[in-house]
Amino acid sequence: MTAKRIDGKAVAAALRERIAAEVARFRDATGRAPGLATVLVGEDPASAVYVRSKGKATLEAGMESFAHHLPMITTQGELVALVDRLNDDPAVDGILVQLPLPPQIDERVIITRISPDKDVDGFHPVNAGRLAIGLHGFVPCTPLGCLKLLQGELGDLAGKDAVVIGRSNIVGKPMALLLLKESCTVTVAHSKTRDLPEVVRRADIVVAAVGRPEMVKGDWIKPGATVIDVGINRLPADDDGKSRLVGDVDFNSAAEVAGAITPVPGGVGPMTIACLIRNTFVSAARREGFSYEKSL
Ligand code: GUN
Repeated sequence: MTAKRIDGKAVAAALRERIAAEVARFRDATGRAPGLATVLVGEDPASAVYVRSKGKATLEAGMESFAHHLPMITTQGELVALVDRLNDDPAVDGILVQLPLPPQIDERVIITRISPDKDVDGFHPVNAGRLAIGLHGFVPCTPLGCLKLLQGELGDLAGKDAVVIGRSNIVGKPMALLLLKESCTVTVAHSKTRDLPEVVRRADIVVAAVGRPEMVKGDWIKPGATVIDVGINRLPADDDGKSRLVGDVDFNSAAEVAGAITPVPGGVGPMTIACLIRNTFVSAARREGFSYEKSL
């Protein structure tokens, strides 16, 4: 392996410490803690794990966590009513409705119902629009975490060739807009892209967010490039009965060529939660007119 392994866990822990220090100042100044409300509908075990770890990180940063758990049979009207209550609750600075939602509920209705100024996931169309035209808003946590890792490795990104593989609303599209804002030359590749390996070979920065295990191979990578792997794919159990988590990048071959690369797990994942904590703190600070360290 020649690439530097980017330690997302360590970067995330350092960011969370800086946020905790700002939260302490906020509490002294305002007499209250920033609050994050999480909403989980149903019993999906992976979603339950994610929501629990978000709540834990919230408390560790010195903020309040309001965890709402609704049954699988919850109606759309009931969930809308809860979102409305949270929108009106002054103790709640951030609202996170864990996706996916059960089939009887239209995700778009719920996402659009959350107040854009409490939308710490950055999924509301108003926040997507703000990002697109360069206004302050909330940026989705995963691409924001990827950007912070890239800036930590490379400093200024201006003029770099960046290829984002994947065009989802949650990762690919906002990632491309963030890199464009940093003056990268951005290509968004997807399932219909012709000669994907050749496109990726041009990139100084590769962000892989397609959800296909180990799709990006080492011989697709330009020597010295920085590779950010957003994928979290669980492979079926092999002969020893253990299942493995892998990214969208074939780590071993890519690490022979890249300059720096994120592992899975321990790369982007911890940054997503740190950025959620960051967005919640920033929401509280904006709502209270509290000035904070802008580099957070
Ligand atoms: N489900 C998977 N990832 C996410 C996320 O970042 N936010 C929410 N709300 N749900 C998710």
